Amino acid sequence: MRLPACPGLAGIRIAGAGAACMPASAKVSAKTPRNSLVTTIMLSQQQLKQQAADAALAFVAEVAAPDVVIGVGTGSTADLFIDGLAAYKGRIRGTVASSERSAARLAGHGLAVLDLNDVDYMPIYVDGADEIDDHLHMIKGGGGALTREKIVASVAERFICIADESKLVAQLGAFPLPVEVIPMAREAVARTLRLLGGQPRLREGFVTDNGNVILDVHGLRIAEAQGLEKVINDVPGVVTCGLFALRGADVALLATQSGVRRLEKPHHA
Ligand code: 5RP
Repeated sequence: MRLPACPGLAGIRIAGAGAACMPASAKVSAKTPRNSLVTTIMLSQQQLKQQAADAALAFVAEVAAPDVVIGVGTGSTADLFIDGLAAYKGRIRGTVASSERSAARLAGHGLAVLDLNDVDYMPIYVDGADEIDDHLHMIKGGGGALTREKIVASVAERFICIADESKLVAQLGAFPLPVEVIPMAREAVARTLRLLGGQPRLREGFVTDNGNVILDVHGLRIAEAQGLEKVINDVPGVVTCGLFALRGADVALLATQSGVRRLEKPHHA
């Protein structure tokens, strides 16, 4: 069934079989009777990511001013945020990027990309996550930009995590934990990670923006994310691990089939 396109439509229940306006890529349940009065439309993961990215732009609108710098993450969700941020060209001082990839996309939109050394304050840092729990602790680094992400986020007042709801988990660790490692320490770090209960695998053919390698650690049961983050970060040769728990997100904007759910960092976390 071909549906007429209606960019930006976020609704998921359309009354009437002949509803005139639906997202072009929306899926209609195969079980829906032809003459049903209510059709359920499932938004794709891409559409959900777009909603989360759009929701983060509301935070930009709150802080935008000629002297303001926005911290920008890396990944497919961050890319959508960057595309929306283009509307702020000339209305903010600029951005700090967490990767060469994001820097190129920002510059492509004509947004200034600043050196972090020239920036001492950012009201917000906006980035995706590979997993996030209800403490707003995250696993990040699926795109390999974890170290610069952690550095840029550390300078920001608030970390706004944008993701589709599939990233919300009860316990971190099903997603293999990325660890950025100085190349000469690869095997030494891998042995230590095995002692911690993980199964590290070298991310083949991948070099980080900092010239290092990534070990993706499978099989970790992450019961205490802050403690594990400290332990792994202390292993000689580790640049940083992809646990963002010591400095987790402050706000999570998680796009669901029924709208964007907002989670705030609990006060005790
Ligand atoms: C990159 C990251 C990303 O934020 C994470 O991988 C999520 O990416 P995506 O938005 O493409 O799902 O940590 O290093």
